[in-house]
Amino acid sequence: MRILITGVRGKTGSALADRLAPRDDVELRGGSSDPALVDHDGVVPVELSWDRPDGWARANAGVDAVFVVVPLREDAPGLVASFLATTPASAHVVLLSERDPEHSGSQGWSATVERAVRESGRSWTMLRPGWFMQVLTDPRFVGDEIADGRFPFPHADARMAWIDTRDIAEVAELALTDREHAGQTYELSGPEAVPPARTAALLSAALGRDVDYTELGTEESLEGLSGFERDLTALTYERVRAGDFAVVTDAVSHLTRRPARSLERFVADAAAAGAWSRTP
Ligand SMILES: NC(=O)c1ccc[n+]([C@@H]2O[C@H](COP(=O)([O-])OP(=O)(O)OC[C@H]3O[C@@H](n4cnc5c(N)ncnc54)[C@H](OP(=O)(O)O)[C@@H]3O)[C@@H](O)[C@H]2O)c1
Repeated sequence: MRILITGVRGKTGSALADRLAPRDDVELRGGSSDPALVDHDGVVPVELSWDRPDGWARANAGVDAVFVVVPLREDAPGLVASFLATTPASAHVVLLSERDPEHSGSQGWSATVERAVRESGRSWTMLRPGWFMQVLTDPRFVGDEIADGRFPFPHADARMAWIDTRDIAEVAELALTDREHAGQTYELSGPEAVPPARTAALLSAALGRDVDYTELGTEESLEGLSGFERDLTALTYERVRAGDFAVVTDAVSHLTRRPARSLERFVADAAAAGAWSRTP
């Protein structure tokens, strides 16, 4: 079968490519706004830019299933609807959504993205994961700060049921390749909800040096952001405070028939792989 991953260089897209590329029964296309940067064995790079709709039909030609990573921009609901209109009518869509998409009501951004998929006329599966453990290694988030011995995060009391994107990828693989998951919505989390100080302690243990938790203030956490990105980040941190991302579910273990990966295992694997290897 032919599968397209829309964001193959991203945290979930790359983990999903790791699973699908070795399969003999899958021809895998990896979408990126700059396909020259896609460097993954067994992945056919394709241009997929949310700014260039002209290329969408080519990326989607003949696909049996597509994994959609939603762009973090205000017009995402319309973009996703238009993009799906260029997929074959028989294609199955797996959406990388988020926890509690109705948090801002049925007309909110996330709920509208999900509705675009449901109303696309394609069969679908919704994945609703919590925060990815991989943001801890992403230099676009806190990867560099952790390398420097600090873990900045707002709301000291807020527990997070961090999920490993390798677990999301495992569930996505099932949903993309087996129509038994059509019409299902999966609420995905890691196995436990941990407060930021515990995350810092696990990082310190894995790295063998201190990583100190620093509580970020609201203004500090929004520094440098504007417009939709600022509003979305402010809302997301408010949801962190309210405990939206602390809810633990058993969907990963139920679907994959093994326990979800723990934060302790993730930080150990990442440290062993040389993440955060910059000297502080
Ligand atoms: N992050 C979380 O904890 C979380 C939790 C729940 C849901 N989600 C959802 O997941 C989606 C993805 O969010 P994300 O923030 O985690 O992004 P991501 O998957 O890491 O990356 C998304 C895209 O950013 C581009 N990109 C730019 N610079 C990159 C770089 N240096 N390395 C890799 N990719 C790079 C890539 O597209 P190009 O190849 O086109 O540049 C990539 O596909 C969003 O819709 C979000 O709502 C995220």
